Amino acid sequence: MGKPDYELINPASGTRSALPVRSGTIGPDCLDIAGITRDQGVFTFDPAFSVTASCESKITYIDGDAGVLLYRGYPVEQLAASSSFMEVAFLLINGELPGAAELTAFRTSITRHSMINESLLRFTNGFHHNAHPMSMVSAVVASMAAFYYDSMDIYSPRHREIFSHRIIAKLPTIAAAAHKHALGQPFIYPRNDLDYCSNMLSMFFAVPCEEYQVDPVAAKALDLLFILHADHEQNASTTTVRLAGSTGTNPYAAISAGVSALWGPAHGGANEAVLNMLEEIGKAENIPKYLALVKDKGSHSKLMGFGHRVYKNFDPRAKIIREACHRLLAKLGQQDDPLFELALRLEEIALKDEYFVSRKLYPNVDFYSGLIYSALKIPRSMFTVMFAIARTVGWVAHWLEMIGDPAMRIARPRQLYTGPTQRDYVAVAQRR
Ligand code: SDX
Repeated sequence: MGKPDYELINPASGTRSALPVRSGTIGPDCLDIAGITRDQGVFTFDPAFSVTASCESKITYIDGDAGVLLYRGYPVEQLAASSSFMEVAFLLINGELPGAAELTAFRTSITRHSMINESLLRFTNGFHHNAHPMSMVSAVVASMAAFYYDSMDIYSPRHREIFSHRIIAKLPTIAAAAHKHALGQPFIYPRNDLDYCSNMLSMFFAVPCEEYQVDPVAAKALDLLFILHADHEQNASTTTVRLAGSTGTNPYAAISAGVSALWGPAHGGANEAVLNMLEEIGKAENIPKYLALVKDKGSHSKLMGFGHRVYKNFDPRAKIIREACHRLLAKLGQQDDPLFELALRLEEIALKDEYFVSRKLYPNVDFYSGLIYSALKIPRSMFTVMFAIARTVGWVAHWLEMIGDPAMRIARPRQLYTGPTQRDYVAVAQRR
């Protein structure tokens, strides 16, 4: 027997509306509120979507109280320990882990799509040398809609597949082009003999005048970070991609919107902001003063890399990244990195502080990731671009899930209007 419906009763008129219960495979039930506007003439009010499930999805599950994250049912800890970013990308997009032949075919297809049109390079080179790379990446990805306009029918499964491989393959190339432009160095073409992360490091750090050897330790560290950043259900940037995509727009344009949404410091931009914050704090003695600042609502400062809309416990990704940071810094001989020591001390103090304890604020995915990027010599302004490269997989998986749903409709929320009531136009000469 199904669960009984909830009911909404208007206390004045007695009008009743059934709120059918919808159950997922795991997680809290949802109330289907679709009938209440028809029956009662009211909307629901949920600014910032704190309690609203905007869609059904089979991709990623989070239990924020228990600190659990599953990709297609697989715990992120297991994937981080044993899988690869390419395998996780296949899993998120297709729903199942690939067989050996499927994985080889997927990797080959991604590798073969990694070159970008030379005109996109000219576009990149048009930016000022100090343009922020997130803005450049967002613009170049949006311009791909112009390059792949005629060949993108969103209702063609083959076109959708080509789009998904193209965008995952080209994001590192676009990011590397932005990086080289900022440095004033020549663009380095992708190499098909390298895996996804090794190729990315080569495009970032090689120069044409000497041979570049990829450090396998660096490639492995990057691969781990990409696995951990690949998807996170209906976060702000994924919701942006879904919303833009729901209009039927070109998917490159929808992904560009996602890049822009990710850039904000409350979202993916926090990884860059964490390093700036650690530098501003400078030394452990200054931590109490900084915590006093973030507790002061008037300061508009936050403890960057802390807190989460869903996790009211440890973000499982932060735990994995902190351990990876220990291992990587030791391997690179940087175990005494003062910013890492400061971050560990800051975490320790914040987790004992009543303000953070009572609000259940824990380190999130962005708290330690920048320290790994720094150790890999990736410049700070590129940190959020790294996040975008990994998250492109999640954006693509969600876009495909949404476009493949025959019940898809344009996303269009309503509002609680608090502006002026109707009034008559007054000619300018008569206005006070
Ligand atoms: C990501 O959604 C996703 O899944 C995102 C993400 C992904 O993979 O896609 O996980 C990636 O975006 C991680 C988050 C990165 N952002 C930061 O690290 C920036 C710092 N954090 C915050 O700005 C904040 O915690 C958010 C934006 C992450 C969450 O915002 P919420 O959900 O609106 O915060 P909340 O309602 O839970 O806050 C409750 C209270 C408030 O205080 P009161 O009004 O109750 O007194 O906690 C306070 C907040 O002001 N608070 C903080 C804080 N985070 C929340 N106070 C100080 N420092 C903080 N970091």
